[in-house]
Amino acid sequence: MLGSASLGLLATHMLSGKESETNFAQLLPKLSTESRERLLRVIRQPGFSGQIPATDVRALLASGPTDIDALMLALLPLARTYSRPPISKYLVGTVAQGRDGGLYLGANLELAGHSLNFSVHGEQSAISNAYMHGDTGISAVAVTAAPCGHCRQFMNELTPGSDIRILIEGSPAVNLSALLPQSFGPKDLGFSDGAFPVRESNLVLTKTQSDDLISAALSAARKSYAPYTKSHSGVAVSARDRIFRGCYIENAAFNPSLPPLQTALAALIIAGGDYSGITKVVLAEMEGAVISQRDVTEAALATIAPKAELRVIKSRLAA
Ligand code: THU
Ligand code: ZN
Repeated sequence: MLGSASLGLLATHMLSGKESETNFAQLLPKLSTESRERLLRVIRQPGFSGQIPATDVRALLASGPTDIDALMLALLPLARTYSRPPISKYLVGTVAQGRDGGLYLGANLELAGHSLNFSVHGEQSAISNAYMHGDTGISAVAVTAAPCGHCRQFMNELTPGSDIRILIEGSPAVNLSALLPQSFGPKDLGFSDGAFPVRESNLVLTKTQSDDLISAALSAARKSYAPYTKSHSGVAVSARDRIFRGCYIENAAFNPSLPPLQTALAALIIAGGDYSGITKVVLAEMEGAVISQRDVTEAALATIAPKAELRVIKSRLAA
């Protein structure tokens, strides 16, 4: 296996040149040449956001591998190139299948020098990627190694009433319900819905103010999933002329909840970006909310983008 440094380099390299095609063939040996060419076109698009749209997925299946499970597993080495684990050096790659037919790449992130709780697991990265793209649900998740308990719990919140197929390299496919028997979930706290499909709450800003970053943060807060605290929040990150949004995604077991900055960072990294490009961040919260994301957002930014300007804006539910 390639070391983390070379994988990071490969991800940047892959964007252009003939040499990159050779690298790509070595990285994704299980894809047909035609599929590799199409995939390169997808990830080289300037607005690439870690999503392989449904039309491209159909084309990849036509040129092989022809089986969706095999295709998802074949894409894992690509997903893993986005992994940023400065603490563990342990690379996780994931691919989530959206109900709408698209595939979403994911990889684990760790924030150097910070509490391990600031990490984003590969599964959370791919799933939050699908969430940010507004997919209606998750049918399957492929992972380079068995999902940990925290991820099983995170996935148990997504689509209550329907199972998720888990594909682990080298093992037969298994359902989440088999990996998490006698589970604790939203129903234990009196909720029958899950995080998908994404719903919008009608939040409005308490003060009239507007620019693209503020609007993006407000739209992320509106789409956040926060049934337990009702403290909707969202983040927008400006990095090298692109805006990355992140919704807060809550979990019935509380700790596996994904903070909005982490969702936005996962979106930035899976789009091929890097933290050093971050210049401005807006956090949209609710006035009088039970919990605030402000402190953790400030703390995380202090290490990864110390010069970035953080602005916190308040919203409330429209009457
Ligand atoms: N990790 C995942 O991304 N998914 C799992 O389910 C297992 C653990 C990550 C978290 C951390 O970045 C590293 O692997 C070591 O635990
Ligand atoms: Zn995990």
